[in-house]
Parts: sequence; C-alpha cells; structure tokens
Amino acid sequence: MSRLLLCALALLLGACASTRERSLYAQLGGRAGIERLVMIAVEKVHDDPRIGELFAQTDLEYLRERLVEQVCQLADGPCEYTGLSMPDTHSGMNLSEREFNWFVEDFEAAMREAGLPLAAQNRLLARLARLRGEIIRQ
Ligand code: HEM
Repeated sequence: MSRLLLCALALLLGACASTRERSLYAQLGGRAGIERLVMIAVEKVHDDPRIGELFAQTDLEYLRERLVEQVCQLADGPCEYTGLSMPDTHSGMNLSEREFNWFVEDFEAAMREAGLPLAAQNRLLARLARLRGEIIRQ
C-alpha cells in the first residue's frame, strides 16, 4: 500500500522512471496527438483578441502544417521542420515579450484542453520558451 502511494506521488512529481524515459513525442501522443494540439492552439491564437489580428492574412492550413512539423521536431519526433526560420518569420512583426507570453498562454490552454499529461505540458513549454529570443524584437 505504502509503495503504491509512493509511486503515485512520484508520478505526480513526474519523477517515475516510466514517465521520464518516454520521449516527449510519445507523451504528446505522436503525430496524431500533435496534430490535435496544433489544431486547437491555432484556433486559440487566431481567436485571441490580444493577438488574433496578426493572423488575419495568414494561410492557417500552411501555419498548422509547419507548426506540426516544428512541435514534432522539438519533441524529438521523426519530423523535419520545413518552414522559415523563426527570426525570418517573426522579425517584421516587431513582437514584444508580452505578445510572446500571450501566444504561449494560448498554447498552454490548448495543451490542457487536449488533455496532455502535466509533465508533457511542462516539457513542451520549456522547449517553446527557448525560441523566445529568436521571436521577440531585439
Ligand atoms: C514559441 C512561439 C512560436 C512558434 C513556435 C511560432 C512558430 C511559427 C511558425 C512555424 C510559423 C510559420 C513559418 C513559415 O511561414 O514558414 C509562424 C508564423 C507566424 N507566427 Fe509564429 N511562432 C511563435 C510565436 C509567435 C508569436 C508570439 C506571434 C504573435 C503574437 C506569432 C505570430 C505569427 C504569425 C502572424 C505568423 C504568420 C505569418 C504569415 O502569415 O506569413 N508567432 N510562427
């Protein structure tokens, strides 16, 4: 009984070996899980009154496809990102730290809505956060 409790606690902390050793790609539910996540996330950023207008002229199907590749690659999955570099895409938008945070908030909400495990949410967030310097204005 106490061992069960300990493992439950370890799982909660994301420290159980079985959770830690799974690739992030697997934790996200593979390609299908990432497609679902990106579908929800793109809808959220597009509908977000704080940043949605920036996407008014965007080909959302193209954006979804690139984001799926990118998230898959960031999660060590079997994909290659074929889109523009992050500075090339975003530098003309002159994005602030605040706008970056709003985008990431929408992504977080999408991960929750997709029902992803908390450990996977945190791992993906950390990897997205690393792109911050390439995306916001310098
Ligand atoms: C970690 C954060 C982000 C990631 C991973 C990301 C990723 C991408 C990718 C993959 C593309 C398509 C690149 C291509 O055209 O080949 C793109 C385009 C775009 N991103 Fe981001 N982005 C991020 C943050 C942001 C933020 C903070 C904003 C604005 C608040 C933003 C606004 C846009 C817009 C408007 C486009 C479409 C540009 C167009 O219509 O050509 N992105 N982004």
